[in-house]
Amino acid sequence: MSAPILDVKGLEAWYGPARALRGVDFEVEDGGVTAVLGANGAGKTTILRALSGLIRRSGDIRFRGRPIGALATEDVARLGVAHVPDGRGTFTDLTVEENLRLGAYVRSDRQGVREDFDRVFGFFPRLKERRRQQAGTLSGGEQQMLAIARALLMRPHLLMLDEPSFGLAPLVVAEIFRVLGEINRNEGVSLLIVEQNASLALDLADRAVLIETGRVALSGPSQAIRADDAVRRAYLGY
Ligand SMILES: Nc1ncnc2c1ncn2[C@@H]1O[C@H](COP(=O)(O)OP(=O)(O)OP(=O)(O)O)[C@@H](O)[C@H]1O
Ligand SMILES: [Mg+2]
Repeated sequence: MSAPILDVKGLEAWYGPARALRGVDFEVEDGGVTAVLGANGAGKTTILRALSGLIRRSGDIRFRGRPIGALATEDVARLGVAHVPDGRGTFTDLTVEENLRLGAYVRSDRQGVREDFDRVFGFFPRLKERRRQQAGTLSGGEQQMLAIARALLMRPHLLMLDEPSFGLAPLVVAEIFRVLGEINRNEGVSLLIVEQNASLALDLADRAVLIETGRVALSGPSQAIRADDAVRRAYLGY
């Protein structure tokens, strides 16, 4: 088996003096999908923030074999780690197209950027129809699509998503997850996906990690996590 694209060992993170992560270990396989599950306040969002260098963190974080635990946020991004935060983080006053251009701001290959605009409009045709519309006037689902599309314009190797299904209707969620599956399978982009909807996340993922109060309670192949009695009762509801 090839080396994981993301290898995290002993990850700790702090908000001021308060430690929110207490030694978290997990991996994302190269070309794989890892789901991060857990109750409200467990530390899921904190994991993504720590990986992106948005908060103080320590531990051994390796991306494509390279330690990234001391890098600034923009340098983590430059290496090919894109972060779609909770609440989506689109610029509401800017148009769809302007938001997308921001996703490509570090790139100098204009032709490649043009091709990637077509590519993301292929994934999300609704964004193409609304390319001149102000992002703040998009529906919640369209804003989530825009946030993912903007991240893809960085041409990431790893896409980290924080609750992409949050607050969206089932049909829109299904569309977004279908596209995430395509991005993973057809383009080889690895995914690290935080989700409250455990069933949906486990369908997409090959591995899962269950977080409880800043620690890993359980991790392993999705099938094993899905079959775990405690997970079934607490997160899958059957
Ligand atoms: N900016 C902050 N300042 C202080 N504490 C914070 C901050 N953000 C989060 N925390 C705390 O860190 C812990 C983990 O929060 P986090 O947002 O990572 O949880 P989560 O698993 O993403 O929850 P949810 O499912 O509700 O999004 C919680 O106890 C939370 O109160
Ligand atoms: Mg969260």
